Amino acid sequence: MAAAKKPRRSQQWFGRDGKMGFIYRSWVKNRGIPHDQFDGRPVIGICNTYSELTPCNSHFRTLAEHVKTGVWEAGGFPLEFPVMSLGETLLRPTAMLYRNLASMDVEESIRGNPIDGVVLLMGCDKTTPALLMGAASVDIPTVGVSGGPMLSGWYRGERIGSGTNTFSLSEDLRAGKITQDEYHEAESCMHRSHGHCMTMGTASTMASMVEALGVGLPGNAAYPAVDARRNVLARHAGRRIVELVKEDTPLSKIITRAAFENAIRVNAAIGGSTNAVIHLIAIARRIGVKLNLEDWDKLGRDVHTLVNLMPNGKFLMEDFCYAGGLPVVIRELGEQGLLKKDALTANGKSIWENNKDAENFNTDVIMPFKKPFKKNTGIAVLRGNLCPDGAIIKPSAATPKLMKHKGKAVVFENIEDFHSRIDDPKLPVDANSVLVLKNCGPKGYPGMAEVGNMPLPERILKKGITDMVRISDARMSGTAYGTVVLHTAPEAALGGPLALVQDGDMIELDVSKRKLELLVSEKELAKRRKAWKPPKPPMQRGYWKLYVDHVNQACDGADLDFLVGKSGAGVPRDNH
Ligand code: FES
Ligand code: MG
Repeated sequence: MAAAKKPRRSQQWFGRDGKMGFIYRSWVKNRGIPHDQFDGRPVIGICNTYSELTPCNSHFRTLAEHVKTGVWEAGGFPLEFPVMSLGETLLRPTAMLYRNLASMDVEESIRGNPIDGVVLLMGCDKTTPALLMGAASVDIPTVGVSGGPMLSGWYRGERIGSGTNTFSLSEDLRAGKITQDEYHEAESCMHRSHGHCMTMGTASTMASMVEALGVGLPGNAAYPAVDARRNVLARHAGRRIVELVKEDTPLSKIITRAAFENAIRVNAAIGGSTNAVIHLIAIARRIGVKLNLEDWDKLGRDVHTLVNLMPNGKFLMEDFCYAGGLPVVIRELGEQGLLKKDALTANGKSIWENNKDAENFNTDVIMPFKKPFKKNTGIAVLRGNLCPDGAIIKPSAATPKLMKHKGKAVVFENIEDFHSRIDDPKLPVDANSVLVLKNCGPKGYPGMAEVGNMPLPERILKKGITDMVRISDARMSGTAYGTVVLHTAPEAALGGPLALVQDGDMIELDVSKRKLELLVSEKELAKRRKAWKPPKPPMQRGYWKLYVDHVNQACDGADLDFLVGKSGAGVPRDNH
């Protein structure tokens, strides 16, 4: 006798008799839902991060409609719901502080509702990891749909990219190379369509991770937000999630250890954001896959950067799309033996089946593995007495000659100290100095803001110098560049060795040896450690307190300690 078919999760609500069935169905009918929609067909949640306060996701109402059309077409019943949205450019003190909060919203919204499968609408940086983390902790069938990048910025005949040129134009203004009016003009030219940052920043990186992990459909990374194919992709996602529910394929069958290994290698090949390190570790630990910093170093080590995109190169996501997009990169990795080819993806095929025939239409934008854009450029994980639990650097965005460097520390105790003194003519700084910024980690800022790529002192910029070694416990924007050591752990606010650095100390960085050393004797450091006092947290109640009390260090994904892992999809009780 065949095993009895497992009743659909949503039927625990909609399939009921008596009072509870009435309660669960009747209110849903209030906008014109016929009774037959509750007959056991797959109920699909559409998790929407639409918000006008998240400009990158401001087209998500339309995107959700296309997903719904696909769900109806496949015989499912779509129900859209909002979750906390995190806008990178408006939210203070940093959207990262709220990534974990949003992930709780997502997790509880999925689990607490009659949903058999979910489509995640994600765009701006933190919305992607927040939704994947939340969904991973429930582990029902899931498809990710990214919102897509904006069209290229164009200013006076040149491409200008989100973030990357915000930083360079700001430095040009400070160095007196452009006027205030020109600066404002560029501001209007940079972001001129719906979509997220169109450099290979964190949003484009995470959209690529969605595709590389297999949780999104092929093409997810690069179709511009306003390209009709983005809407088609959303519609296909709507159709496909219904099938995934029928096939009973939970998220954990897709985002396996193999999928994460693929994603790490893809990140190296696209010269992706350092933020992906934290986010992927956090997502993996939710779903129960073991992933750590060493995996990043090991797996990315032999991978070359293939794409010539800002912030590492000169093109933008629109160019990447027309060149063939992420499928070309995945094919190149597969041909080099750098892909777990059997990893299952959301469309039911393996990652190799999806990408093996991808054509490259522009080898200036996507360079072949044999003639790469930059060599051996995966994320480098540094160790040493300054970062016993690791620190990272993105070699593709760094200056080659600074990757082996010894210099005197110029120390800033916190971000306010940095802002107040960086342009002080008395600051003892030259191009060989190492800028050190403390107390910007997960607990210290709090939320580990993107301030690690500290702007250089004005008088150094005026000499035409554009890069210096910088070290902090902060993150940096995925659109940023420079020889910037990030995520130093343990962080200064926790009393990590970074807290003990003083002006004039010698620091040695050697990326090829994966080394970061504070050249101060252990005896002296012990003395300083004894005198160290933790900084006072800026807020002592509410979510900020919960966050500071429970946040893990960057090397562990900066998740809240009690959110690591999953609780599954079960809910023990009815609501009335
Ligand atoms: Fe939203 Fe960059 S600000 S993706
Ligand atoms: Mg950012």
